[in-house]
Amino acid sequence: MKIYKLIIFFDKYFGYLFFKNYNPFRYNLLDMFLKKKLSKRINNNFIKKFLDDGYFILDYNFSVFSEKLSSLINLQDKNIDKVDYYKFEINEDIKKLIKKFVNNDLSDYLNKLKEYFNSNVYVTNITLKRNFYSSIADREEIYNNFYHNDAYVYNHFKLFINLMDIDVNTGPTHIFSTSDTRKIINMVRKYKRNNQIEKLDSEIIPYKHVGPSGKSLFCFTSKCLHKAGVPSKNKFRDYLIITFVAYPNKENDNCFYYEENFEEEIWNGDTNKLTTNLAKPYNLKQMLTLYKKFI
Ligand SMILES: [Fe+2]
Repeated sequence: MKIYKLIIFFDKYFGYLFFKNYNPFRYNLLDMFLKKKLSKRINNNFIKKFLDDGYFILDYNFSVFSEKLSSLINLQDKNIDKVDYYKFEINEDIKKLIKKFVNNDLSDYLNKLKEYFNSNVYVTNITLKRNFYSSIADREEIYNNFYHNDAYVYNHFKLFINLMDIDVNTGPTHIFSTSDTRKIINMVRKYKRNNQIEKLDSEIIPYKHVGPSGKSLFCFTSKCLHKAGVPSKNKFRDYLIITFVAYPNKENDNCFYYEENFEEEIWNGDTNKLTTNLAKPYNLKQMLTLYKKFI
């Protein structure tokens, strides 16, 4: 048990030491080899920029979609006083709307990602939430409000969609590009997620996802430090996060293919079982198997 803990520690510490991010060392290593393998497949500006920066702001604001979704979630507003965040219930109408959005509005982007990864792209998790102001968020982790990297291989990425007009007071998502992530971690000298980055007097400023309802961005959250902003008092932020995993599976190219067996995991928002199965290999054997799947 102790040895296992030690391995976890060094995996994390070496990730920090050699790659300057908070993703485990072995995932950074696998990413490096996988990126090299797929480098010949970069053939358009979207993929190039997304890989270079670690995030990509979509050219088009999906305001029709976001306003429809917003009106559906606002139907279910209950008494939500005295909570830090609220998880919206995802009913059949909402599922239908999100599926249509993924299959139609996102198809150009997803096709390019499929081409680059030479695999299918699957939805593995949907998060639909409202974050409120929290008086303790500066010192406690409430809703991923401390900078962190998600611990996955980079076949895992997320789409963040604003469901209302967002400014700095409504707690936008904050993201550091891949290269700024390296710089800022070098400055803060901490090997795991922390709330000190805020306090650095640095010229390196994160991107804040402010803008109109429907504004969206893709992010390799394992590569870019990111966090949820904290809304000001009496303010809140409604947002949707769609988690995707690129995974070679010849059986079926439907983005929602895994819904058949992992319905709860996809729509319930809190469990990461499916994402884990596809983008979080546990041992060397699983890592090699994943690497070999991408041709
Ligand atoms: Fe995260």
